[in-house]
Amino acid sequence: MKLKGDETMEMLILTKAEMEQVMTMREVIEGDKEALAAYSKGDADIPLRTNIAVNKYGGQSLYMPGYVQSADSLGLKIVSVYPENVKKGITSVPGSMILLNAQTGEVKALMDATFLTQLRTGAVSGAATDLLARKDSSVFALIGTGGQAQAQLEAVLAVRPIKEVKIFSPTAEHAAAFAKKMQALFAEKYGVNITAVGSYDEAVKDADIITAVTTAKEPVFNADSVKKGAHINGVGSYMPDMQELPEEILQRAGKIYVDTRDGVLNESGDIIKPVEAGRFSHDRITGELGELVLQKTTGRETAEEITVFKTTGSAVLDLVIAEKIYAAAVAQGLGTVISM
Ligand SMILES: NC(=O)c1ccc[n+]([C@@H]2O[C@H](COP(=O)([O-])OP(=O)(O)OC[C@H]3O[C@@H](n4cnc5c(N)ncnc54)[C@H](O)[C@@H]3O)[C@@H](O)[C@H]2O)c1
Repeated sequence: MKLKGDETMEMLILTKAEMEQVMTMREVIEGDKEALAAYSKGDADIPLRTNIAVNKYGGQSLYMPGYVQSADSLGLKIVSVYPENVKKGITSVPGSMILLNAQTGEVKALMDATFLTQLRTGAVSGAATDLLARKDSSVFALIGTGGQAQAQLEAVLAVRPIKEVKIFSPTAEHAAAFAKKMQALFAEKYGVNITAVGSYDEAVKDADIITAVTTAKEPVFNADSVKKGAHINGVGSYMPDMQELPEEILQRAGKIYVDTRDGVLNESGDIIKPVEAGRFSHDRITGELGELVLQKTTGRETAEEITVFKTTGSAVLDLVIAEKIYAAAVAQGLGTVISM
């Protein structure tokens, strides 16, 4: 506890292992709903990301600041992309989240943003699935087995009574190893059977929920394989040349939600490519997920309609979840405090 006149600053350092202990996936999902509602209400100040090219080392450093008034969360996420790091045996996408005390402007916490990003991104698909998928959904298809995939899987398992998960990625060994690891982690906890399958369409056929979380530049499944009433999360495409969702599925969907209009309409090839081809228009977007949380828009209306959620991510999710993790860690006495 600081006394008046004491000018030292106290900062809490949180590692991934500590962050993993403080919140359940269900709690993070509810946190993401709060964050998107705050964003859609205009309660969040999220300036444009600043990108710095560090050409000397072939790197890019990205700075994502923001303030969410209702959550009193002020901070900055720094994520860098250094492809050459792989040769050095270190992560190519190092990330840190800095949280400030909104009342004083002092830095109060530093935490692992690689894990924070996985958690809040999984949870945002979980939030959309909770709000849009049929309640009786039991088969889940996951396409992509990279860094984001585990949190994407757990988020869906946390909100629907899934019995069967079918996993596909282009490298069969990756998919098999990932499925085995996930089966060991989640089979008992969620009463589910998780296996790798040999093709996109085998994964998607019969699936009630589909999540695509890849770096693909072309659609990763065939719209004709998607059954009526399915819910689809599109997570990967965040640049105009990236695409995972077949445009026919957007045309067929009854409702299409996005995390932020700004992000998705300006950045994602899933929307930009069909719009540029003249086969889709922005007025087909039903709304932001935050508007659905605020009950300003309508969710699923029939068991047959296809629902789609597209996310490109937003600092509002990082800020709200980081603040909740910080508060929970302080309450549980976790982390390392340093004085400066
Ligand atoms: N929406 C968000 O907020 C958000 C947040 C974080 C990451 N992302 C994006 O999600 C994507 C996945 O992230 P990651 O960290 O898991 O990436 P990663 O590089 O670790 O893994 C990529 C995965 O995509 C698969 N893949 C690539 N091309 C494919 C294709 N044509 N068909 C099927 N699978 C294919 C790979 O096999 C691999 O499993 C990236 O594009 C990333 O930028 C989005």
